Order: sequence, then structure tokens, then C-alpha cells
Amino acid sequence: MNDKILDGKKLADKLNTELKEKIKRAVEKTGIKPNLATILVGKDPASKVYVNIKNKTCEQVGIDSTIIELDEDFTKKKILDEIDKLNREPTIHGILLQLPLPEHLRDDTAKILENISPIKDADGLNPVNKGRLFDYNEELAPCTPKGIIALLEHYNIELKGKDAVIVNRSNLVGKPLIFMLLKRNSTVSVCHTSTRDIDRYLKNADILIVAVRKPKFITKERIKEGVIIIDVGINRFEGKLCGDVDFDDVFDKCAAITPSPGGVGPLTVHFLLSNTFFTYKKQLNLTEF
Ligand SMILES: NC(=O)c1ccc[n+]([C@@H]2O[C@H](COP(=O)([O-])OP(=O)(O)OC[C@H]3O[C@@H](n4cnc5c(N)ncnc54)[C@H](OP(=O)(O)O)[C@@H]3O)[C@@H](O)[C@H]2O)c1
Repeated sequence: MNDKILDGKKLADKLNTELKEKIKRAVEKTGIKPNLATILVGKDPASKVYVNIKNKTCEQVGIDSTIIELDEDFTKKKILDEIDKLNREPTIHGILLQLPLPEHLRDDTAKILENISPIKDADGLNPVNKGRLFDYNEELAPCTPKGIIALLEHYNIELKGKDAVIVNRSNLVGKPLIFMLLKRNSTVSVCHTSTRDIDRYLKNADILIVAVRKPKFITKERIKEGVIIIDVGINRFEGKLCGDVDFDDVFDKCAAITPSPGGVGPLTVHFLLSNTFFTYKKQLNLTEF
């Protein structure tokens, strides 16, 4: 594969193989398999696809997967009851609430996430784990930013002193990345829909991380020669999956780039599973592995 391509799929395969081995040894010692519970509310087709991918990868690395499908019209109270049951269930080690929630629950997302026990919070979205990240503790940081950092570090991309520009300020992507990049001594700018003259930031970026839900948002005219591009976006465009970056257009001008699909996505899944293994070890007081 071309050495400009940051191959997330290849790295995720390697990390999943290592994780599988660690899980095997832990299960041999304890007789207990890690179990990740996923709550899926409603019938959003994209969410169903993601849940199936996570389910399949759980199986590959030796994690049991419990999927709880709730009706679209479930109330906040009923979802909180389900979370409460999972928090108290000793055979469940990690809990994931598949996002986004249906429209009528969207404003309650933060409140619902608050109720997932911090020790079972596989997605790192409970306020306790978000707060730990504020102190640069990444043990249970959100999975996509963990994947992005793992990819940059795997390819030995220098972050210290670099101008990192994130185009996204969501809880899942942009906000956690601010702390993770600051921890590694980058200078971080965050752009969003109210940013004035966004091209001024894009043109200055040494590291550019984009997650805007817009195919071909980044073209060669908007970037600096030699930039490293992390394309987090996953869009369906003209019948195919693609990211937010016009890959072919920017390819010659950038120093390195993630494909999408096959970049950040597989690493997001890996870190969900590695977070689940972490919560499992904490609950079983396992210090090795
Ligand atoms: N590969 C993976 O594993 C993975 C994981 C998570 C997400 N994703 C993908 O990443 C994308 C973003 O996900 P998300 O959940 O973070 O979405 P989101 O909550 O909708 O966030 C989108 C962000 O992009 C900003 N934005 C949108 N249009 C813009 C524009 N024209 N100029 C500047 N900023 C703009 C928004 O700004 P405002 O805040 O001002 O609205 C917002 O901060 C999606 O395509 C999603 O599928 C991929």
C-alpha cells in the first residue's frame, strides 16, 4: 500500500489480534468472558449497521455481545431503567448506548449517558470519564479520538509543536481530541459552523482532522502542502461510502491521509473493545494483561 496512506484497517487488525490474545489469557485465568451490552433505540439503518460491525468484531476478539433493542417510542424513563439493570448486572462489563438517539430523545442524550456507571462506560461519554480526560487521563476516553491518536502515533507523526486543526466540536470527536492533542503538545484550533474565514485555519494546518458530514468538503485549494489529513467523515455519496475529504484531489499535495472507509472507522471499533476489556479488568480486579 502507498506509504502516504494511514491504513487504519491494517493497524486495527493488528491491535485486535493482540487484544484477542490478552482476552484469551484473562479468560483462562478467571473463567469469565468480557461482555459488552449495546443499547439500540429505534430502527435507524446506519446505527444497525454499526451495531452489527461491533457485534462481529466482539466475536472475533472473544468478547460476548448483548444487544438490547428498544422501540423507537421508548421514554427516557424506560431507557434509564434498562441502564440501571445493566449497571447492576455483574455479567455485563461494558455498556454502549448507540448514538444518535431518536429525535424525541436527542435533548436527553447527555442525561441518559450520565446514568451509565463510569466503570462500565465503554464509550467514555459519562461525565466522570470526560472529566478525567480534562486531566489528560485517557483510560476511558472516547473511541474515535483514541483511534485517531493511535494511528498518528503508529505512523510516528510528530505532534509536538504542530498546528492541529479540528473541524468538529462534537462530544464524540472534536472535544476529546482537544485534550488528547494538547497532551501531546500540539497547538489546537477547533472550527465549526460559526468559524469566520475557516480557510485561514485550514491553510495553516500541519495536522487536519475533519468530521463535518460533507463529502468533498476538503479540496486541494483549501490545504497547505505537506499536511497530514485525518478524514473521520463517513458519508454515502453517489451510491458509495466516502469521507469528508476529496481524496484523489488532495492526494498529491498532502504528506499523508487516511482513506474513508478503512481509516478511522476500524480503529473506533477496536477501541470500543479495548475499553470494554479495560472495564472488565477493573471490575475483576485484574492488574496483569
Ligand atoms: N470513522 C468513525 O469511526 C466515526 C466516528 C464518529 C463519527 N464519524 C463521522 O464523523 C462525522 C461527524 O460525526 P459527529 O457525530 O461528530 O457529527 P456532528 O455532531 O454532526 O458534528 C459535525 C461537526 O461538524 C461541524 N460542521 C458541519 N458543517 C460545517 C461547516 N460547513 N464548516 C465548519 N464546521 C462544520 C459542526 O459544527 P457545529 O458544532 O457548529 O454544528 C459540528 O461540530 C460523521 O460523518 C460521522 O459519521 C465517524
